[in-house]
Amino acid sequence: MEVIKFGGDAIVAGQASLDYIENISCKAAMIVTSGPYAEQSGQLAQITNRLEKTGAKHCCFDAVEPNPEFSSILKGAELAREFQPDWIIGLGGGSALDAAKGIWVFYENPQLKGIEMDQLRTPGIIKNLRMKAHLMCIPTTSGTGSETTASVVLSDSAKNRKFSFADMRLIPDVALLSPALTSSMNGSLTANTGMDALTHAIEAYVSREATDFTDALAEKAVQMIFRYLPLAYAEPDNLEYRERMQNASCIAGMAFASAGLGIVHTIAHAFGGFFHVPHGLANAVTLPYVLNYNKVCETADRKYQRLEALCGFPDLKEAILELRKTVNIPSAMREIVNADEIFEKEIPGMLIHAFHDRCTPHNPVSPTEEDMERLMKLVYYGETE
Ligand SMILES: [Fe+2]
Repeated sequence: MEVIKFGGDAIVAGQASLDYIENISCKAAMIVTSGPYAEQSGQLAQITNRLEKTGAKHCCFDAVEPNPEFSSILKGAELAREFQPDWIIGLGGGSALDAAKGIWVFYENPQLKGIEMDQLRTPGIIKNLRMKAHLMCIPTTSGTGSETTASVVLSDSAKNRKFSFADMRLIPDVALLSPALTSSMNGSLTANTGMDALTHAIEAYVSREATDFTDALAEKAVQMIFRYLPLAYAEPDNLEYRERMQNASCIAGMAFASAGLGIVHTIAHAFGGFFHVPHGLANAVTLPYVLNYNKVCETADRKYQRLEALCGFPDLKEAILELRKTVNIPSAMREIVNADEIFEKEIPGMLIHAFHDRCTPHNPVSPTEEDMERLMKLVYYGETE
């Protein structure tokens, strides 16, 4: 039996999509964003001006870190309890959107106060959602797909931990895609987030949980990202390219929300948790190595060949390397982290992290500890290792 849910009540796309806000029934909206950028750039005002037209009051919680800390989620939930919003609106990259989901969970479930981050994975622990508020996510990057996924990634930097949990009810009610909001991304953010979206699509495609439905989405997303990422990177102000990348990222999000991911994400999470490598960049560096590794699985290999046929590439790995070069992404983690001794010392901890990662079981090949260590070293040192 396959039970599939793609997206919430509405995915609102296109260049006038922000106007949708004027049509929602809202008394009080709490906007969750990362730092002062949304206010300084005028993005926040684009939301609040529209909310004011509906008569809704609003407040903003902007204390979300690049990798949202569990402690910040709890602070945001405090504000929500005081302000009593009937909409929570995440505005920003994946961190802001994940933080909005996390705050929503604690706002709706005051009984969770005092629990440890890891307990959020306990089945049935999230009792209520949508009793107090709806959730809207407005991405300002094109990569995480968080606006349409059921998962939340949180960090506990004191413990070098990144932690994720998921629940299908966490898929936002409204995913609002406004391409103009993504045009302020600089080149490296465009590249990193775009490569994250590509990784979502490819990992969902070869996941053990892939279905005909998720394959259709993943194939479309892969084709769009190969075509439009270099264009959006070269012409950042072109809203058509931005729109295509934003849509592709959301489509890839729908694919992996159902199919899951794989060990590219596992390894990226480890490098993110231990060395604070930005998520999309870590995926971009890791993807070709894992693709090679997964080829021992016949089904995965056949699917890679199918993507080659669809995109017209003689070799998928070479196409990824080429794309990576076009958008100026390095080929080994060492070029980013450059801390050989610390890396070697942290490997045992990273391996433990990797085998606790929710993405690992979905990978088409089940890695042994030796496999995982070898892959991590390849990713760190590059092909010469
Ligand atoms: Fe990702």
